[in-house]
Amino acid sequence: MELSGNTIFIPGATSGIGLALALSRKDAGNTVVVGGRRAELLEQISAEHGLDTVAIDITDGGSVLNARDSVLSDHPDLNVLIPMAGIMVAEDVTTAGYLETAERTVDTNVLGPLRLISAFVEHLQSRPASTIVTVSSGLAHTPLQMTPTYNASKAFIHMFSETIRLQLAGTSVEVVELCPPGLRTELMRGQSQVEAFLPLEDFIDETMKLLADQPDASEILVERVKPLRYSEANGTYGQTIAALNSH
Ligand SMILES: NC(=O)c1ccc[n+]([C@@H]2O[C@H](COP(=O)([O-])OP(=O)(O)OC[C@H]3O[C@@H](n4cnc5c(N)ncnc54)[C@H](OP(=O)(O)O)[C@@H]3O)[C@@H](O)[C@H]2O)c1
Repeated sequence: MELSGNTIFIPGATSGIGLALALSRKDAGNTVVVGGRRAELLEQISAEHGLDTVAIDITDGGSVLNARDSVLSDHPDLNVLIPMAGIMVAEDVTTAGYLETAERTVDTNVLGPLRLISAFVEHLQSRPASTIVTVSSGLAHTPLQMTPTYNASKAFIHMFSETIRLQLAGTSVEVVELCPPGLRTELMRGQSQVEAFLPLEDFIDETMKLLADQPDASEILVERVKPLRYSEANGTYGQTIAALNSH
């Protein structure tokens, strides 16, 4: 994908990776539209950074279509979709009550990206060069004990990305999967204070360097995520699970 001159929509950019990516892409000469539910943050981002914003709840199909219509009406040249929005909530499957969290996680992390891709895929094919950047996780490949549905939702994103890349191969749409390691965001409360996690700025810098050095890469893997991503292939699956879950 080209690194400048794009028009990018990032639903899930009111905070964390999405916001950092939005600001970095704006500085690199792209037009960026930020989406999310928190109206006060959308207003603040618009006022402070001059980015276009749109209210969207990806668990609501009507909201996704309304946001799509609004974004495409203002930006008919939109050519990059980054379904970034996600939640990560601990669950305990030894109690029946885990189902509420599991359903919410699937609705956001699995059905949300499906709704977004469905809403934009025909438009994206009408542009000469488009990209869908899906967002998985190292936990798609090595499980964190406390978040079974989250891990599985990201494994879904990984395999869905692998497969739609095959279906879209004859079109103008490329599919790139961003597979982050643990980062200092507030995805889970307090996570931004965990020193073992990679600072957001370092992740964005390394990600942009990888995209620049490997313009045809289908998966963006910073060094920190490789032990999780390749544990099974490397024969270190058991010890990587043990290390990941030792804290
Ligand atoms: N941080 C990590 O360690 C890490 C590692 C691997 C993968 N990831 C993935 O990276 C993505 C971003 O996470 P983050 O770390 O940046 O966390 P974050 O700061 O909590 O950001 C999550 C974003 O998703 C949005 N969102 C959540 N539910 C939504 C909904 N129903 N509709 C619309 N937007 C919604 C939030 O905006 P509103 O609340 O304003 O709606 C927010 O902008 C997630 O998919 C996450 O799974 C993160």
